[in-house]
Amino acid sequence: MTWLESIYPALKPWLFRLDAETAHSLTVKMMVISHKLGLLRPVGASGAPVSCLGLTFPNRLGLAAGMDKSASAADAWAALGLGHVEVGTLTPRPQPGNAKPRLFRLPEHNALINRMGFNNPGIISAVQRLEKRRSKAVVGVNIGKNFDTPNENAVNDYLYCLKAAYSTADYITVNISSPNTKGLRDLQAEDAVRHLLSTLKKEQAELKKEHGKSVPVLVKIAPDLNDLQIESLARVINEINLDGVIATNTTIDRKAVAGHCLANETGGLSGAPVRERSTLVLQAFRMLLKPGIPLIGVGGIVEGSHAAEKIKHGAELVQIYSGLVFRGPALIRESLAALAMK
Ligand SMILES: Cc1cc2nc3c(=O)[nH]c(=O)nc-3n(C[C@H](O)[C@H](O)[C@H](O)COP(=O)(O)O)c2cc1C
Repeated sequence: MTWLESIYPALKPWLFRLDAETAHSLTVKMMVISHKLGLLRPVGASGAPVSCLGLTFPNRLGLAAGMDKSASAADAWAALGLGHVEVGTLTPRPQPGNAKPRLFRLPEHNALINRMGFNNPGIISAVQRLEKRRSKAVVGVNIGKNFDTPNENAVNDYLYCLKAAYSTADYITVNISSPNTKGLRDLQAEDAVRHLLSTLKKEQAELKKEHGKSVPVLVKIAPDLNDLQIESLARVINEINLDGVIATNTTIDRKAVAGHCLANETGGLSGAPVRERSTLVLQAFRMLLKPGIPLIGVGGIVEGSHAAEKIKHGAELVQIYSGLVFRGPALIRESLAALAMK
């Protein structure tokens, strides 16, 4: 057991007395300092390397977007044994996000509700930080649009971010599934998504020539899509040969937490209550997508066995976020162990 894993159970009650966002910033700052002091060690066996998206991932487990929005701690996360770290969501211009409070814990459900609204320092400053990274973990850059960019011009924001991140990122995720940027999810509609993703694919081909390297482009989708929306999205992804899909973001559905005093907070619900729906959407995409298009499974992994379950239902890689808040680094150990048995 590492130092951080051993102190987390004692630290957690103190952190949970603070408001969730303050606790988050404090934890990340502590991690960065601990890493600089050489106190972070991989949690558990590191796992076997996996080829996916034309890249070699040290193992199947990664950090989901939103935990490191400013790309300030990628090396520290990697030092804990995560095989990939997805930073962001990053937008062309820096933006403060929604008013606080905007992050809530529902410990009875191992769940969070957030309406952060893409608070981030802007793609350029994040990329500059990433250029200095040292770890061998794969780094994904998750991109979005500024809150005040109308959907008709959204493609320009994504193009700007794609170009800015291309030379540094190992893969790029197009986030069109956050519930906290007004109208963003409308970009998942068939015509809108075809226009957006095909434009980005064309730009990717140009950037490949310019930089002499191919950086895969993935799309991150919502768990709240109905069957028809899943079919149309999968059709477009197959048609334009997108490189991969991340399933899923947070949900706006509150059935699983009905009656909780925070259930009606606006935002996306994550953690245990989203697991079943995320996995169903993952499975549906696995059935519909061409075999060569890989899926990353995320949503509700709060135990190691849940990570293995995502692989069983068609994911090549998995990501965690809310589970880390409730379980700490122990979840990394458990997940790596469960994935090693796959
Ligand atoms: C506080 C918070 C902020 C998030 N921010 C982002 C984000 O900026 N971009 C994104 O693609 N997903 C974001 N997510 C969604 C997560 O990456 C993940 O898809 C979702 O939480 C489901 O996984 P989980 O149940 O393991 O948390 C965020 C989630 C939380 C809890």
